[in-house]
Amino acid sequence: MSAEDVLAEVAALRDGDLPTHGGRTLAYVYDSGLAGLDELGAKAHALASSANGLDPTAFPSLLRMENDLVAAAAALLGGTPETVGSVTSGGTESCLLAVLAAREGRRDVAEPNMVLPTTVHAAFRKAAHLFGVRAVDVPVDPVTFRADPEAMAAAIDENTVLVVASAPSYAHGVVDPVAEIARAASAKGVRLHVDACIGGWVLPYLRRAGATVPPFDFTVPGVTSISVDLHKYAYCPKGVSVLLHADASLRRGHYFASADWPGYTMLNTTLQSTRSGGPLAAAWAVVRHVGDAGYERLARDTLAAVAEIRAGVEKVDGLRVLGSPDSTLLALALEGDPGFDLFTVADEMKDRGWYVQPQFAHGASPANLHLTITAANRGGEAAFVADLAASVAAAREAGPVVVGGELEQLIAALDPEQLTPEQFEGLLAGAGLTGGAGLPERMAQINALLAVAPARLRERLLLEFLGLLYRPPSR
Ligand SMILES: Cc1ncc(COP(=O)(O)O)c(C=O)c1O
Repeated sequence: MSAEDVLAEVAALRDGDLPTHGGRTLAYVYDSGLAGLDELGAKAHALASSANGLDPTAFPSLLRMENDLVAAAAALLGGTPETVGSVTSGGTESCLLAVLAAREGRRDVAEPNMVLPTTVHAAFRKAAHLFGVRAVDVPVDPVTFRADPEAMAAAIDENTVLVVASAPSYAHGVVDPVAEIARAASAKGVRLHVDACIGGWVLPYLRRAGATVPPFDFTVPGVTSISVDLHKYAYCPKGVSVLLHADASLRRGHYFASADWPGYTMLNTTLQSTRSGGPLAAAWAVVRHVGDAGYERLARDTLAAVAEIRAGVEKVDGLRVLGSPDSTLLALALEGDPGFDLFTVADEMKDRGWYVQPQFAHGASPANLHLTITAANRGGEAAFVADLAASVAAAREAGPVVVGGELEQLIAALDPEQLTPEQFEGLLAGAGLTGGAGLPERMAQINALLAVAPARLRERLLLEFLGLLYRPPSR
């Protein structure tokens, strides 16, 4: 095939995706709205994508760009001359490495654990799963959804190698009381990681724009590491995050070397070995091009968009904003029992060209719709709120999706450990999730079913569904 035809096919395939620009997709994507920024990132990506970060002596350009990005992140987040870091492939990898470094820093602890607020990102569950560090879950305040520093302090024991706080949490957009948590952790000599994957590049600018942002960075004594994703609010092409450590000794545990084979001595700073220079160079270019003043302007626009959308949502009968968000993320829940359901609202929004992300109930947090608001939402707030109000009206008209009592009981009683892959496939087919044709147009019924499934069953069902999706096209 000619290059032209192949590219036309890629473009045609991409037409079936959610839009990544224009502010209509309120999860997964971050749009600055700045003309030319994508093109700049793409050009820089192309210039470096064949270079390999595996050997910084062979590709000193990548070493230089990584050191520059780490320095920029440290400057933004209260770093000191001792602050060091690593560029990783994304937020999950940064969080994984923070846990790995903490475990390796305490090789004397045979059964390590980490103390987590229940609102912490699922990346830490993955770290627990991969690295054998037990997650100790600490409930958050049921109204504000902020971590409870006293309960966290009480949960720290002699096997605790790490405490984690979010700035902010993904699900509710609230910044945990980092200063109090840090005090408790450092009093017990335990590391504190601040997961600022989503907030790290925007909270400092929101503060400059006049927002009240509680302290969360290295200016807080006791904070030992911070993760901040450049592919979120630094508006860089995907595949790039920074993990900062207060000093080099704290980073050492996620470095890895092996001379135990006949090839080159493998030396890795992150989980990856071969590392494309593409995302790094793209981020370096975007960060320098937008610049400090540029990020401040983007944050001002985002702050204004959040305020307008929040005020608009609060006027929609039957909806409320969960907790008291400190940043650019909102979670919309039902107010009382208003006679409609949020999963139908999400479908109605999709029909109107918006993607809002359903979040299932968890602990004190009811089912809700997540909004990641970016600079591109500035100017489109009224259209969003009008379509939201229309979607609520349509959902009210349709009435709430009901999962029959019998079916609900059946699902609640299913033990995922006892089900075979064939039984899962049958269940999924019954729900209309066959994999072949992707997702059904309307998701409300399926989401309502998933919502009544216990968490372990929901995980298994969705994993089996994933297995159906990732199959050769001919099958
Ligand atoms: C607070 C937080 N931590 C970690 C992550 C994981 O980041 P990624 O999806 O880049 O792996 C996210 C993603 O939204 C996040 O919001």
